[in-house]
Amino acid sequence: MPSSTSSSTDDPVERARRVLEAGGVIGLPTETVYGLAADATSSSAVRKIFSIKGRPADHPLILHVADLAAAQTLSSRWTDTARALAEAFWPGPLTLVVVRSAEVLDEVTGGRTTVAIRIPRHALALRVLQEFGRPVAAPSANRFGRVSPTTADHVRADLGADVDFVLDGGPCEVGLESTIVDCSVDPPQILRPGSISAEQISEVVGGVASASGPSRAPGMLESHYAPDCLVVPVDVGDASPNDVDRVLDGRSEPARFAHDLYALLRECDRLRLRRVAVLLPADSGIGRAVRDRVFKAAARRSH
Ligand code: TXA
Ligand code: MG
Repeated sequence: MPSSTSSSTDDPVERARRVLEAGGVIGLPTETVYGLAADATSSSAVRKIFSIKGRPADHPLILHVADLAAAQTLSSRWTDTARALAEAFWPGPLTLVVVRSAEVLDEVTGGRTTVAIRIPRHALALRVLQEFGRPVAAPSANRFGRVSPTTADHVRADLGADVDFVLDGGPCEVGLESTIVDCSVDPPQILRPGSISAEQISEVVGGVASASGPSRAPGMLESHYAPDCLVVPVDVGDASPNDVDRVLDGRSEPARFAHDLYALLRECDRLRLRRVAVLLPADSGIGRAVRDRVFKAAARRSH
């Protein structure tokens, strides 16, 4: 951060707020993964996010807000579905895609008519959002195409001096990115699985479709979330693979594995392991999100 605004306060939340106010970027802890956060109402601040991440300009960002009233000002069509899901799961690891309002910058949506919004439940994230009082754009705080960060150290390792400040909120509770539900279509559609499962969403809104084929969430490329090591997914009934340097067990405790997955993959890279097998959990609940990320981590090297 610019030296003129450097630490004149001991409160890290206040420091984070000041950096956002000054148009800077911070590493923001959330319950899912760490975000690379900037003032969503400033074009120049939002452009910094894209340049630091090396992210293509047409990959839209998620807006983070402190409360429902703030979320609603960002949308011109707050549907019954969006209302019900927000009521059931916010604050929490759920992102809603809704028709955008005129308040939202084109840089955030990549020129789309829809915008992605969420209220995180991490206590520090909520305090920053409350005290800043404006929407904050935040993709995961990794370089484009890499594994998302789940600790402050991961953010520093990936982005180092490119971020003005990293707010350390400890290891992320969930460990995988939020579930994304597109509420601009009927029935609503899950664009990215997360810890809030399709089963839980269906309980609230009735029918929900899962995106299949080429994903409708721009930027959700097949080869995403990719470590350097070759990831070999192993399903129940598959033969155990030969010649692996490590086996990661996602089968017995899927939620705990979700929490640890990205740190484990980073550790494998640090140890320069070549082939890592992952025993996949069953395709339900958070297990679906774990499988999704493991297949994406594997896709990169199979091309
Ligand atoms: O858990 C999370 O969601 C984290 C934390 C920091 O909140 N953020 C995150 O952001 O994962 P990011 O940028 O890595 O992923 C955002 C995803 C992208 O795949 C993008 O395509 C999708 O959200 N997205 C954003 N706006 C969209 C829109 N208008 N329509 C469809 N998909 C959208
Ligand atoms: Mg990401």
